[in-house]
Amino acid sequence: MSRTHTPVLLCVLTVCITSLVLAGTDEAQSDDECADLNNYTFLEYRQQRGKVQVQYLLLTRRNMDCAERFRHESLSETQQPPTNFNISRPTKVIIHGFRITGSRPTWVRLLARTLLEAQDVNVLVVDWIYGASFAYNQVVENYKEAALQISVLINQLQEHGCKLQSFHFIGISLGAHVAGFVGTLFEGKIGRITGLDVAGPLFKGADTYDRLDPSDALFVEAIHTDSDYFGISISVGHVDFFLNGGKDQTGCARSRFSSVFSYVLCDHMRAIYVYMSALNGSCPLVGVPCFSYEDFLQGRCLTCDAFNGKCPTIGLSENSGISISPLPKEQKLFLLTTSSSPFCTHQILLQVEVSPLDKSAEVEVTLVTENQGTEQKLPLRKDTTVYSVVMSHPFALCEINSMKIKNTGNRFYRQGDIHVKSVCLSEIPSQSREEPLCVNNIDIRRGAPWSHDFVQVCDSS
Ligand SMILES: *[C@@H]1O[C@H](CO)[C@@H](O)[C@H](O)[C@H]1NC(C)=O
Ligand SMILES: *[C@@H]1O[C@H](CO)[C@@H](O)[C@H](O)[C@H]1NC(C)=O
Ligand SMILES: *[C@@H]1O[C@H](CO)[C@@H](O)[C@H](O)[C@H]1NC(C)=O
Repeated sequence: MSRTHTPVLLCVLTVCITSLVLAGTDEAQSDDECADLNNYTFLEYRQQRGKVQVQYLLLTRRNMDCAERFRHESLSETQQPPTNFNISRPTKVIIHGFRITGSRPTWVRLLARTLLEAQDVNVLVVDWIYGASFAYNQVVENYKEAALQISVLINQLQEHGCKLQSFHFIGISLGAHVAGFVGTLFEGKIGRITGLDVAGPLFKGADTYDRLDPSDALFVEAIHTDSDYFGISISVGHVDFFLNGGKDQTGCARSRFSSVFSYVLCDHMRAIYVYMSALNGSCPLVGVPCFSYEDFLQGRCLTCDAFNGKCPTIGLSENSGISISPLPKEQKLFLLTTSSSPFCTHQILLQVEVSPLDKSAEVEVTLVTENQGTEQKLPLRKDTTVYSVVMSHPFALCEINSMKIKNTGNRFYRQGDIHVKSVCLSEIPSQSREEPLCVNNIDIRRGAPWSHDFVQVCDSS
């Protein structure tokens, strides 16, 4: 290509790209119709030249289906904030994380709607794009710039009479750190931050100044669902809910047929869906304080006595329902969930005591309610006679109709009968008034499954 042609081509390219960007901007700025998150293409993104851009969408009960564009410029120019914003009401601020260009995250609208159905609030959706590079490092550099821009808006809303503590930020993935930095800029005086599978890579070892931490708001909570990949494995809030241990979620199993990408996203996105389900309020999702998931599964943490008997609950209740003071810090909470909405399950503690064995063995315990069974294999060793394990059963303890035990030990070593001194079931977190269900002194023979029916009614009081 000759030198003389180059400027012409460049010019053509520039005009092309500029008009593309302008077209996008024009569309984004028309105020007559409903506003939406941007869906810039890759080419348009590249034109941002590393400049972080933030726009806001406002949704309230008056405009649940038609977002209003919200600009901080308009706050300083006029006396009043945009029409639907009500200064006397609390404000929920949703901040998304890393996202794919040319598409809009569908869950944002769903989360906004679920929040509005639960409470009469202002919902501000922060839509931010971060420059020309998809490199994670670049994104991380930009998130503080986004937080700075958001803080300008919050300052202006404050001048119009909004109270800092009336703001509740809900940040997803990297968006949770954006929320955390906004909190840092306001010296921890904003009301609440909820981090949904807070971004992990690069942040785990970061200084608390650079990541979400309990000093960022009056109350900080986090829900962990993918802490071995996109999410963070350390505690970052006053309380941290680790769902199913916080790494791998039920129903997100890696299969030969699902790509690694969809498998990993399934875990990461689960935090959002569980949170929405909790807002829906169909069933309680409560966390039990414990040192580790292993301890929790082994039945070492049974109560919420550390919280005056009231377990922290995922959702909108003040401080997650925690009434103790001062608030805990970086307290890990564990709970099991099912694989689909509304995600609640019952955590049944199985405790078995056997007579000493000559050889190692194995039993399989099945809890049955109506036609649904939950199985649990329990390896038995020579050196131990007492075992506990927490099972996830879709029904309450009082709804269990029967329990079956099979002797499933190694076929080649003839383990004789297993004498079970006692097998007990109780529910976690334990209710003091509920007695465990126990059966004593039974022999489990090979090839002869044992079964026991419970006759019980649920106490509705
Ligand atoms: C704003 O919210 C307050 C408190 O909920 C309510 O009393 C008032 O009527 C609302 N104002 C408008 C214009 O909706
Ligand atoms: C962006 O959204 C607009 C309006 O919803 C739509 O017409 C356009 O096709 C979208 N662009 C892309 C790249 O998806
Ligand atoms: C909320 O609950 C309703 C029914 O109670 C259900 O149809 C809807 O899917 C739920 N939404 C979420 C996000 O869980």
